Amino acid sequence: MRFLLIFIYFFCFSLIAQEQWEEVNPGVWKITVGTPDEFDLLKASNVPPKIEALTRMGGGNFPFDLSEVVTEVRSNHTYLRFPLDRQEQIYGFGLNFKTVHQRGQILHLHVDHYGGRDNGRTHAPVPFYVSSNGYGVFINSARYLDIYAGSAARKDSENPPEARDRNTDRNWTSRPYSDAVEVLVPSEGVELYVFVGPSPLEVVRRYNLFTGGGPLPPRWGLGFTQRVHKLFNAEQVLEEAALFEEKGFPLDFIGLEPGWQSKSYPNTFVWDKGRFPEPEKFMDKLKEKGVRVNLWVNPYVSPESPIYKEIRPYTASHTVWAGIVPDFTLEKTKEIFWDHFDKNHIEQGVSGYKIDEVDGYDRYLWPDVTQFPSGISAEQMRQTYGLMVQKQSAALFRARNKRTYGLVRASNGGGTSFPYVIYNDYYNHEDFITALINSSFSGVLWTPEARASKTPEEWLRRMQSVVFSPMAMINAWSSGTKPWSFPEVAEEVKEMALLRMQMMPYWYSEFAKYHFDGTPPFRGMSLEDGYQIISQKNTLTDDEANLETNPYAEAVRKEVKDQYMAGEYLLVAPMFAGEESRTVILPRGKWYDFYTGEFVGQEEVITVTPGLDKIPVFVKNGGIIPMMEPLLHAPGPEDKINLEIKHYGDKPGEYLLYDDDGETFDYEQGHYSWRTITVEQKGNGMFKGSITKAEKNKPDNINSVVWKYMTNE
Ligand code: GAL
Repeated sequence: MRFLLIFIYFFCFSLIAQEQWEEVNPGVWKITVGTPDEFDLLKASNVPPKIEALTRMGGGNFPFDLSEVVTEVRSNHTYLRFPLDRQEQIYGFGLNFKTVHQRGQILHLHVDHYGGRDNGRTHAPVPFYVSSNGYGVFINSARYLDIYAGSAARKDSENPPEARDRNTDRNWTSRPYSDAVEVLVPSEGVELYVFVGPSPLEVVRRYNLFTGGGPLPPRWGLGFTQRVHKLFNAEQVLEEAALFEEKGFPLDFIGLEPGWQSKSYPNTFVWDKGRFPEPEKFMDKLKEKGVRVNLWVNPYVSPESPIYKEIRPYTASHTVWAGIVPDFTLEKTKEIFWDHFDKNHIEQGVSGYKIDEVDGYDRYLWPDVTQFPSGISAEQMRQTYGLMVQKQSAALFRARNKRTYGLVRASNGGGTSFPYVIYNDYYNHEDFITALINSSFSGVLWTPEARASKTPEEWLRRMQSVVFSPMAMINAWSSGTKPWSFPEVAEEVKEMALLRMQMMPYWYSEFAKYHFDGTPPFRGMSLEDGYQIISQKNTLTDDEANLETNPYAEAVRKEVKDQYMAGEYLLVAPMFAGEESRTVILPRGKWYDFYTGEFVGQEEVITVTPGLDKIPVFVKNGGIIPMMEPLLHAPGPEDKINLEIKHYGDKPGEYLLYDDDGETFDYEQGHYSWRTITVEQKGNGMFKGSITKAEKNKPDNINSVVWKYMTNE
């Protein structure tokens, strides 16, 4: 009897315990519904939360009653429902290319190459969304998830859509109002997380910190990179690097495409003896010129690879391009596969990888009927393969106390901290910018790479966007395009590339803020203060609703897919081929032209006609942008730079400048410094800047400082 009572007690307790929300970190709430799968996104990424930073943020209140969240396990599935307000907008659900507002969308989250429609199939279909009401939801599942993001209506809803008469009612709509996000998870349970704000940016920061904080790239990772033709040999690569130098064009790393290997698709992972007889010497020579090497790979192993026999037992039942597919959840696979990379590439000097084809298409990849030796389903493998290759390859560099920064074609929830940037073959410039915006709601990085262009105008416009992105890349593997390939705009392109280098202290500090505080370096406008205020209002006053007197109010209600924030102070509004002018929505506060320091407007929609040589960039009032001389390669650990600190606007400002050796993980042992740059206003109205010294024995790469008061010179 006693045993029975104890049993009943524990049984009931476990039921209750399972269904309780628990604050696992400050502002991060978790609930376990039913019996979740053993393997999920957080297990695949396996990165601890940045607890100190989360603690610094403190907790926060829920914007809705947790009891409004419905969770049910029914017929082998888990059903989830989250409430939505009338005015609420939601962002996220991964790397979408055409939409920023996700409310109303139906998505089937599935890792895939983006196919031209925002339907959930994309390179990083992260099951995380951010609400304009200041909270976020993360579904920790490595399954294909069905998401009805405010697109379905229930008959028991407290806010049901009105039944209208299509014959006579002009307000009849084919998409009636929905008051909930509903999700179907094809498992008998799932872990759910809710992230508290109060602002959408704080929600994103919390999610990013919970998943390990953003990566801190090596300094060279933020310089320029070019990818060369797949059949280039060592001589040709060296010539390419020399040509960049000769033309005065910056270059920090060069990417070799499939032909560095003896065979590819499937891959041997062995240097081709004809094209690269002495890889180590070749990389040394490049390194002397300040240029590093990134290798293209996909993970599918050729029968001719030296690791083929050994790894075969640890691979899937199906092949990809006749190559065997490693099961990266197994320790043995990791050992065999990555050990080869370590000994045959990294030891010889390779500084990073471009890990291709871990996303889709269905026709290329293993089918869902595939069996993996670990017993993990093909579906779960598909959702997490990108995460695992990022994690495991990055670990090789970490073991050598070297940072890396590379490219990958798939990621997912939990992958925030991996030093990889997502890319694809889709190549629509406008949609590339929308993807850059969406990357900020999903804890991933995205590059709007430039490959080729039909006209000089398009080339310049694309290069301008590339400069204001996480990876400044030309991916000319097939076109052979060089930065100077269009003589009409060669000078302007060069100027942009050098601007990227000049802004290195800013970019590096902004990435440090991503790493330490979770603030994405490139962000959608919806994460901006003073942008939300108006878009969130339930009702507009007559004045506000009057478009003639307030175009701003209306504009911010619309989806903004073509402008974004770059770092703390910059607003970037890219131009696309064929455009001479465009509108820009300026959030609350005064804004200034990045190039001239002139006042451009505040809390309004402006039209700009920038000319071909400029990408419109605006600076917040009081903004401080630390710049350096236009070097052709990122400064090394011992190099000193000359800072030029620019201040904009009519009010004082402050900026935190980050510094460390730029290459190793020694910063984790405290070898870094934050310096405070302050610009004060004196009695006579003049501005005066100062910068704190680096602490004793802490990194200090500054040689000299000059100040530029852009608005008040
Ligand atoms: C594609 C990839 C390209 C390029 C190419 C080489 O899948 O997206 O960037 O690397 O493979 O074959």
